[in-house]
Amino acid sequence: MKREEILDWLKEESDEKLGALWSRADAVRAEQVGSEVHLRGLIEVSNHCVRRCAYCGINADNTRIQRYRMTEDEIMACVRKAVAFGYGTVILQAGEDYSISTAFVSRVIRRIKSETQLAVSLGLGERPAKELTAWRKAGADRYFLRFETSDPSLYERVHPSLPRRRSDRLATLRKLKELGYEAGSGVMLGIPGQTYASLADDLDLFKALDLDMVGVGPYIRHPDTPLGREEKSHKLLAGRNQVPNTELMTYKFVALARLLCPGVNIPTTSALASLNRETGYELGLSRGSNVIMPNLTPSQYRVLYEIYPAKAMASDSPEEFQARLSKRLKAMGRSIGKGPGGRKKC
Ligand code: 5AD
Repeated sequence: MKREEILDWLKEESDEKLGALWSRADAVRAEQVGSEVHLRGLIEVSNHCVRRCAYCGINADNTRIQRYRMTEDEIMACVRKAVAFGYGTVILQAGEDYSISTAFVSRVIRRIKSETQLAVSLGLGERPAKELTAWRKAGADRYFLRFETSDPSLYERVHPSLPRRRSDRLATLRKLKELGYEAGSGVMLGIPGQTYASLADDLDLFKALDLDMVGVGPYIRHPDTPLGREEKSHKLLAGRNQVPNTELMTYKFVALARLLCPGVNIPTTSALASLNRETGYELGLSRGSNVIMPNLTPSQYRVLYEIYPAKAMASDSPEEFQARLSKRLKAMGRSIGKGPGGRKKC
């Protein structure tokens, strides 16, 4: 698809015209990854973080949240739920927390791989190559790290450098591929200062990085973050080219990601579902997506993993969510994926 056409779709507002984009994305999804929806159980193991990402509620400077770190036993209790619900994958996610040590994560990965059939995905931030290597050896299958935006100046504005830890997520993503991980990345949509042209570049970068998974969601303002406090002035930066942080924008981007990276796994994220609690999952799944990541984090911790306010499903128990989700998928004529559901190698 030519860049002009991509930009036209990104800016398109007519429901009638967009109908054609949704059907194309849905057809490519069906042909490339089938009707199965893969469920990945999300475990938010720690909300400690050394980074100062300007948009994120758990950034190191936010003194208003209570911090937690799950124990190995607590994590394994969530893993057993994933097995009981028939999920094929668990995702261990956290802020960039070095008290979650190389050895601790390796031990948990080994336990999951020896006690279950689950695939293990990690989302633990920009960890050094040595750790990524150790975790891959321990059996981790996948790693997620969103690059958030391909616009270098916007990237730098929202990811301030730390003394010994410059932020370079692209370098980490390349390393992950080299180590044999299935690599996932993605962007936030509607970051103040983000332009449509940069979204077209984001899509190109997905292809250039040869990603296996692409996750996108709307930027949601968090009042206790630098960006959340400064939003008004930032809004002016991109003027008419400012990407809106809306539900519709997210569907358009998901559909385009499906057309441009046909074989990848694309989740409907909870940030999107939080903008439309009634039908967000259904709409995402019928406009290109094929994965959902139900949250298995115990409720006392889940409320503290507040990267943005009012996360979807913050109050549902895993059991309640699972029961409703099965019904909703059945009603859509989509089946629940069996097994790990890795990227189909084309
Ligand atoms: N709004 C939406 N998404 C956010 N994330 C972090 N903060 C926010 C926010 N305020 C997303 C980022 C990150 C992922 C784990 O959560 O894209 O990579």
